[in-house]
Amino acid sequence: MQLDPSELAQKDRYRLLIGLVVPRPIAFVSTVSRDGVTNLAPYSFFNGLASEPLSVLFCPANRPDGGEKDTLANCKPESEGGTGEFVVNASIEGYAAEIALAAEPLPHGESEFDLTGLATAPSTRVKPPRVARSPWAFECETLQIVRLAPGVPNAGNVVIGRVVRIHVDDAVLDAKLRVDYDRLAAIGRLGGIAYCKTRERFELAPGKTGSRASA
Ligand SMILES: Cc1cc2nc3c(=O)[nH]c(=O)nc-3n(C[C@H](O)[C@H](O)[C@H](O)COP(=O)(O)O)c2cc1C
Repeated sequence: MQLDPSELAQKDRYRLLIGLVVPRPIAFVSTVSRDGVTNLAPYSFFNGLASEPLSVLFCPANRPDGGEKDTLANCKPESEGGTGEFVVNASIEGYAAEIALAAEPLPHGESEFDLTGLATAPSTRVKPPRVARSPWAFECETLQIVRLAPGVPNAGNVVIGRVVRIHVDDAVLDAKLRVDYDRLAAIGRLGGIAYCKTRERFELAPGKTGSRASA
């Protein structure tokens, strides 16, 4: 089958995108509004961007009415009315249900921390709190926002953030900074309402010789 995206309805383009580009890591993003209300929401259009500088990106689409989701409104630069900061928390089996629950579009001024019952922990370098139970968290300063179609319903935006503080639970990391994936128990997102676990794995050395694998 071949499909022309310009002939597909937006909901079908979305269905194909989230069904085919799998598995996706999930950023559980905490922010705070200029008036001090905390916010927490999952974003699976997410990835690490670079280690130089250490940076991540995630993609909050516009709401169906073309407006900004709370996370974007909160993490955009101060010059645009936001705080310019966000925290990426881990998405793990231990609070998977709370991650899905936090996708509830709450009225402005209500916090998904209260809705989910997840406790906060203070951050070190940024104002948004962390999820206390998260085995790792990246405190981030917003570097840049790319808006694909401002004001257009469901249009995409890319938030690029520089990681200014790293938190990791000692239980999931050894002295050589290697992660224990069984202890981390990260989850990823598939299409529809499906998720995946990361406790089944296999190993392959890269390239012809795999010589870099042991480096
Ligand atoms: C696992 C999961 C992943 C999601 N990923 C995204 C995403 O990448 N981009 C997006 O715009 N919405 C995504 N959503 C939907 C948002 O979480 C939802 O719109 C939420 O209400 C946004 O909250 P906010 O307005 O507080 O930022 C996702 C939902 C779930 C459950």
